[in-house]
Amino acid sequence: MTPRRSRGRRLVLVVSALLAVVLGGCAHASGNHNGQNTLDPKGPAAQKIFDLFVPVASIAIFVGVLIVVATVYIAIRYRYRPGKNENPKQIHGNTKLEIGWTILPALILAVIAVPTVSTIFDLAKDPGPQALNVVVEGKQWWWQFSYPDQKVVTADELVIPAGRPVKVHLTACDGTGTAKTCNVIHSFWVPELNGKKDVVPGHDNWTTIEADNPGTYLGQCAEYCGLSHANMRFRVIAKTKDDFAQWVDEQQQGPAVPLLGPDGKPAGDAQDLVVNTFACTNCHILDDSSKAAYGPNLTHLASRSTFASGSYPLTRDNLIKWVMNAPSMIPMESQGCRLPPGEKPCVGMPSFTENTPKGLPSMTRTQAEQIADYLLELK
Ligand code: CUA
Repeated sequence: MTPRRSRGRRLVLVVSALLAVVLGGCAHASGNHNGQNTLDPKGPAAQKIFDLFVPVASIAIFVGVLIVVATVYIAIRYRYRPGKNENPKQIHGNTKLEIGWTILPALILAVIAVPTVSTIFDLAKDPGPQALNVVVEGKQWWWQFSYPDQKVVTADELVIPAGRPVKVHLTACDGTGTAKTCNVIHSFWVPELNGKKDVVPGHDNWTTIEADNPGTYLGQCAEYCGLSHANMRFRVIAKTKDDFAQWVDEQQQGPAVPLLGPDGKPAGDAQDLVVNTFACTNCHILDDSSKAAYGPNLTHLASRSTFASGSYPLTRDNLIKWVMNAPSMIPMESQGCRLPPGEKPCVGMPSFTENTPKGLPSMTRTQAEQIADYLLELK
């Protein structure tokens, strides 16, 4: 084997290995579906995008392959050979060629523009009065979901009826946070239901999602928004019409365990920790599912399967760890949240065991267990 041949083979080997790695990123073993596959649409909007993607990508791949093959062929066919080094025929200013390679791409783009523009208009259509209205608010770093017509506020899991369009109003600031925490752009993305839509402070965007069938669809913040951007996940849970109605009914109920007694004082030891000792109620609401706050509404926390913006399964162990030291589970700039407002940046949930500000109590494991057990009763 000549050295040149062996170098060529090595190149082929390296390129194939790289290709295998790159293509491996698109693969998913059956049963281990990643839940965020735009090429596996599960609703009408995602289907429309997919139906546009297939012809556009096919044309692009065809043109791309054609150009790469032609370039490689020409580079090899007309390469420098010793003794045959005459200047090739110069074709600068060939009008036919110039017009040809200007018009052909323009034609291809014009053809692609037809379905593209019609899909854009189609996706921008208002879903009409039969749609369910949901207000989605991007926060640092979690999603709040409110149902204005049902008077329900929840977080992390957006429950929707399957087979019915949901008009998602996107906001990034409701005034319950400090100006700093409202100043960030997020992007709402459920790959299997629709494309991304930016969530911009001071500008109301909307998008429509619809799931053909009941199921869980994974969402993700798709615009860098600070420390825990990558942890800013959520789930869209599509239920049948009846299951959805039942869910709404349950969410509209008061808390399973009261926060305050008839005398207005904490209704138990855990509630006393939550209201007085650690002042969780400064940021969270635990006894009224119709109201929004700086932190997630926890009135029906135990009805969710995940917490911390969908980053952790809602288990007792996870919750205890979170209540004690949330920033150890998700990076946050939150220690200032235990100080009076405005004293230091407060973004997220503080640790109650580390870096405790002077004069404030530190949380023991027993206290955290008490709080977690109380929270887990809030079905
Ligand atoms: Cu919110 Cu990235």
